Amino acid sequence: MEAKGASPVKTLVIVPTYNEADNVVPLVQRVRTATPDADVLVVDDGSPDGTGKLADGLAAEDAHVHVLHRTAKNGLGAAYLAGFAWGLERGYEVLVEMDADGSHQPEQLPRLLEEVDAGADLVLGSRWVPEGEVVNWPARRAVLSRGGNLYTRLALGLPLRDATGGYRAFRASALRDILDGGVASQGYCFQVDLARRAVRGGFDVREVPITFVERVAGESKMDGSIVREALWRVTLWGVRDRTDWLRRVGSKKDA
Ligand code: GDD
Ligand code: MN
Repeated sequence: MEAKGASPVKTLVIVPTYNEADNVVPLVQRVRTATPDADVLVVDDGSPDGTGKLADGLAAEDAHVHVLHRTAKNGLGAAYLAGFAWGLERGYEVLVEMDADGSHQPEQLPRLLEEVDAGADLVLGSRWVPEGEVVNWPARRAVLSRGGNLYTRLALGLPLRDATGGYRAFRASALRDILDGGVASQGYCFQVDLARRAVRGGFDVREVPITFVERVAGESKMDGSIVREALWRVTLWGVRDRTDWLRRVGSKKDA
């Protein structure tokens, strides 16, 4: 990492969008103000509400803003994989995940980046550590997030309080390694998948508190199929980890 005062670390903030026409312009502007040296990549899945066109308008006026247009809504995981590939090909040193709806406040991004600067390979913006918080979330969503994180921690043994969140900063070298294993998750459990791969890979994973603010415009894309995918995949990973472990213990006894 560059020393302070030297040319800044090349950072890419990846923002996946599906029908975020009310949010994309103010969000990108906030990122540009909070972290003027960072570039922004909007990954739009052909939003019918014109989000992609609005993003193109921003890109036309600002060389720091880029847009990746995809033809179909293929899920958060696929959108991020395309964005990561775009950024890694272009030599970005730090890649950031951020929602488009304002839930992840760009003004808190420097906290995440400082932690990467201090040596972390992956920094999770965390709602469920001291000083982390959620604002205006319906009780049902808070319960789902806390329950999902508790289940994830028990099933996978991850030492993380918020493994399902989507505000993160990756060091490029670590991200490359994590993605090498092949990532299949499509929905929001993509986030859990990356976190567990990072922990298992022995990377330095840290959590910093964030204030998650529920969106005021547009709608969440979270639905039952996303929750179901998360539940079966986390369960499968947990079972697989345990059978692998039993097999290793068994083969040690036999030897
Ligand atoms: N390109 C693309 N394709 N973008 C998508 C898709 C998709 O299929 N699905 C969702 N998005 C975008 C949304 O437009 C938004 O910018 C971001 O992904 C998050 O989607 P939301 O629908 O706002 O998510 P949420 O607020 O319900 O969920 C939040 O909490 C989850 C659980 O903690 C997010 O922070 C998730 O990342 C997190 O996993
Ligand atoms: Mn949201």
